[in-house]
Amino acid sequence: MRRRVLVTGGAGYVGSILIPLLLKEGFKVRLLDYLMFGGESLLEFYGHPNFEFVKGDIRDRRIVEEALERIDTVIHLAALVGEEACEVKPKVTWEINFEATRIIASCCKQKKIKRFIFSSTCSNYGIYRAGLAQEDTSLNITSLYAETKVACEEYLRTIETSQFHPCILRFAMMFGLSPKMRFNLVINDFVREAVHKKRVVIYGPKCWRAFTHVRDAADAYLTCLRAPLNKISGEIFNVGTENYQKKQLANLIKEYIPELQIKIMEKKKDPRNYRISFKKIERRLGFKAKRSVKEGILEIKDALEKKIFSNPYNPRYEIWYKEKFLKSLL
Ligand SMILES: NC(=O)c1ccc[n+]([C@@H]2O[C@H](COP(=O)([O-])OP(=O)(O)OC[C@H]3O[C@@H](n4cnc5c(N)ncnc54)[C@H](O)[C@@H]3O)[C@@H](O)[C@H]2O)c1
Repeated sequence: MRRRVLVTGGAGYVGSILIPLLLKEGFKVRLLDYLMFGGESLLEFYGHPNFEFVKGDIRDRRIVEEALERIDTVIHLAALVGEEACEVKPKVTWEINFEATRIIASCCKQKKIKRFIFSSTCSNYGIYRAGLAQEDTSLNITSLYAETKVACEEYLRTIETSQFHPCILRFAMMFGLSPKMRFNLVINDFVREAVHKKRVVIYGPKCWRAFTHVRDAADAYLTCLRAPLNKISGEIFNVGTENYQKKQLANLIKEYIPELQIKIMEKKKDPRNYRISFKKIERRLGFKAKRSVKEGILEIKDALEKKIFSNPYNPRYEIWYKEKFLKSLL
């Protein structure tokens, strides 16, 4: 029997890469999304016989219950993503990122859906200077975004039973091309600035970040779909490929765009600074990210230079588009 997966928030940056991968691997996929950014990224697979779309808000229990009918696995992506988006309306942020996660997880339990994969973030580590952060490193919350994600992690781990197996993936900041492109991510943004303005402005140049290619993120979900339940139940896995200081990243981009000028903004502080270990997921599940930061830089540079984006500065790739949407939410 084909496995039936519900992906929430699958019309976004990660989901638009993940869904075709799941379809290719033979899963039946139902997508539940509010289409905050429109739904063009779904057109490639919209007519696929194993794909179904439900338009709706994850805060609505009735819609969630219907979307979970005949489903055996949930991949929960839907969220307000990133610090700026979360700050626009904190109450809405809690509703979407935390309360709705509670609704979905409790409905899964009721319906005896065992496998629940949650999308968390390495932002939860906030500031960590003592080497590479591991999954059991104590967290240091520095934003509302991380606060809501940590609250979800804690909640999910408390409701694990022999019938409900939540798994938490803490993703590093993503990069790379997606049909629902985001340029408000460090690498994607730096490369866009480098290609179009030959100038990049950095605050917190020595701050470390961890990164993962969006296709590796999709592969990590697939690994968790295939893993035996006892290997993922109640577990947290960091997912990513490499750690870079922001200044190092800009210098790496400069190797391919030598005219690039790097400007340091001294006054603005960066609330995050961490390096991450990705060994646990490799040791336990045999997952290793395949795409390097360098490959990602070249991929985005190539697409920008060949004018794949008619206007890479279109607000739909930025937070501002979300902000307008968020302000319209009750
Ligand atoms: N992109 C990254 O760098 C990154 C890093 C770490 C973790 N994550 C996590 O991965 C997940 C996906 O991130 P992304 O970059 O694809 O985000 P995204 O903003 O591109 O996509 C989020 C999707 O969720 C949908 N959504 C939001 N609120 C909804 C609601 N109330 N009801 C239904 N749908 C709703 C949106 O319409 C959108 O399609 C998120 O949970 C995010 O926290 C992402």
